[in-house]
Amino acid sequence: MIYVGNWKMNQSFEGAQKFLQSLKKRVSEEKQKSYIILSPAVLFGLMKDEFSGTNFNWGGQNCFYKNEGPYTGENSPQLMYEMGARYVLVGHSERRLLFGETHEMILEKAHIIVQNKMTPILCVGESLEQRSQFQNVLKSQLTGFSNISPLMVAYEPVWAIGSGKIPNNLQIQSALSVIKEAVPQSTVLYGGSVNSQVFRTLLCKELEGFLIGKASLNVDSFILE
Ligand code: PGA
Repeated sequence: MIYVGNWKMNQSFEGAQKFLQSLKKRVSEEKQKSYIILSPAVLFGLMKDEFSGTNFNWGGQNCFYKNEGPYTGENSPQLMYEMGARYVLVGHSERRLLFGETHEMILEKAHIIVQNKMTPILCVGESLEQRSQFQNVLKSQLTGFSNISPLMVAYEPVWAIGSGKIPNNLQIQSALSVIKEAVPQSTVLYGGSVNSQVFRTLLCKELEGFLIGKASLNVDSFILE
């Protein structure tokens, strides 16, 4: 199983350092699980210091769709790779809703992430109002991604993020089958209110891992035991 922690805009420098050191101690013998931390890009130096030479991976929560140029405030995917990042999240609903990211921008980002030898982790998922037509929502969010490889796709219903509400097993399975049909090359994850109390109820045979927000801020809750 793959456990991806999305720290969002959280953690202090000291808190992050303590987290990484304690994670390495807690799971150094793990063979079955792989852990990826998506930290704020300003922490990549720390990620590199703590994770280089280990089995842990790290990545970004967003990047720009070009490698360099006059784009004040943006993060270069090429530089992210140089700093050791191997994954970048794209299309998280917070970026779609709060920062107006369009489908075209998200697709362009996914292309440049792959060109830079990293794996895009695409978030897809319906809002509560779109619940009855979730299949169409997922299909449209996956348009153009069938030739992106490698690719991870996280099914993250918007209504489940940070709400404590989770879909039932049947709902997850039907979402995963829409995803697998549209992008068969992808590795599929589930995200939205995942924690150590509920993760077992979310498991199903197609599921290859979890995208974990709030619970990833604490080692005990992130390792999902
Ligand atoms: P949550 O966030 O686990 O806090 O619901 C998940 C996410 O937004 O990726």
